[in-house]
Amino acid sequence: MALTISQKCKNIHPSVTLAIDSRAKQLRSMGLDVIGFGAGEPDFDTPKYIKDAARDALDAGLTKYTPVAGTLELKNEIQAKLLRDNDLEYELTDIIVSTGAKQCLYNALCAILDPGDEVLIPSPAWVSYPEMVAMAGGVPVMVKGAAEDGFMVSGAELAKHITPKTKALILNSPNNPTGCVLPEALLKEYAELAVKNQFYVISDEIYEKLIYDGGRHVSIASLGEDIKAQTIVINGVSKSYAMTGWRIGYAAGPKNLIKAMTSFQSHTTSNANSIAQHAAAVALTNGERFMHESLMEFTARRNLMYDMLSGIEGLKCTLPSGAFYMMLDISYLIGKSVNGKTITGSDDFASALLESQMVAVVPARAFGDDHYVRLSYATTREKIIVGIGRIAEFVKECH
Ligand SMILES: Cc1ncc(COP(=O)(O)O)c(C=O)c1O
Repeated sequence: MALTISQKCKNIHPSVTLAIDSRAKQLRSMGLDVIGFGAGEPDFDTPKYIKDAARDALDAGLTKYTPVAGTLELKNEIQAKLLRDNDLEYELTDIIVSTGAKQCLYNALCAILDPGDEVLIPSPAWVSYPEMVAMAGGVPVMVKGAAEDGFMVSGAELAKHITPKTKALILNSPNNPTGCVLPEALLKEYAELAVKNQFYVISDEIYEKLIYDGGRHVSIASLGEDIKAQTIVINGVSKSYAMTGWRIGYAAGPKNLIKAMTSFQSHTTSNANSIAQHAAAVALTNGERFMHESLMEFTARRNLMYDMLSGIEGLKCTLPSGAFYMMLDISYLIGKSVNGKTITGSDDFASALLESQMVAVVPARAFGDDHYVRLSYATTREKIIVGIGRIAEFVKECH
């Protein structure tokens, strides 16, 4: 046998954000003032009451293996949260805690997919979905939503992509990278299709707490018993409680599926971190004030970034309703040149912007649309003012 790397791993696409990211780090290490709009996490620190809970967990000796699917304490809090916030009633055996929402997603896909099964993914979509589907042996089927429709895919459009091999649909509302929040009427259309054609819905609700202008999050699973029976709700504490590094996510869904996900996890990573589980349980009991304050700050940042970007001639963006990302339409600059280089797509735009103005953005080719870049406003207002000012300068340099 040769010492080769598996085809499965070779098929994984390298992250296109990586090149920009490492160049930005390189420039920073040279002492240059790089403004980063790439962050996928809140810039706030984890609230003190959660950090204190982690210290308490250590002092109490919560340092051993926990049940694979999570501690009773945390599962109780998750159960209460799902009822309180989402009107969803689950038994404790319908819930699993994992090392981040990311692991829940991968566990779920591994538990449902057989080779060749298709998974519908409305796009622009988070880069990890198609990669995870492929790693789990499935076939990602990207269904593109147009900017003029708020990047949302209608039920009729989705229906065109349903085949006898369709095993699941991945929804993400509020959405990374578009910031769109799926309205209840559209969720109803998706639910009808899922029930009629008997495929699972994997509903990634990780940005649930970041919805602006009084908008309301609706979980597709809450629309009826039949759709609930075939939906896996995915959530976690990363984005809502500024706990990205703690790695706690959870899933709730049909009992047999949660059982399969638990078996799968038992042989890969076992339980999620015991100290972080206690901290997450405490986080879920008492985060309203922190979340209210962070939502206010994100609202101010979103408005600031949107107003500034909208004032730059040629560029277009849509005001996001949720999450902390904004898609910037750079079509106007495609074909133009800067510093002797032609911008042919979002990768060129991002690297030219970084080299000439020291501003890092994420090329949206990774998300399925090469005429856009994604900007995260999980950064300070001061940096937004300086960074968008530099983007305005950059646009002037293009001809
Ligand atoms: C849409 C989406 N889902 C899930 C995750 C991962 O969440 P976690 O930190 O809980 O693994 C991210 C992180 O960027 C995300 O953007």
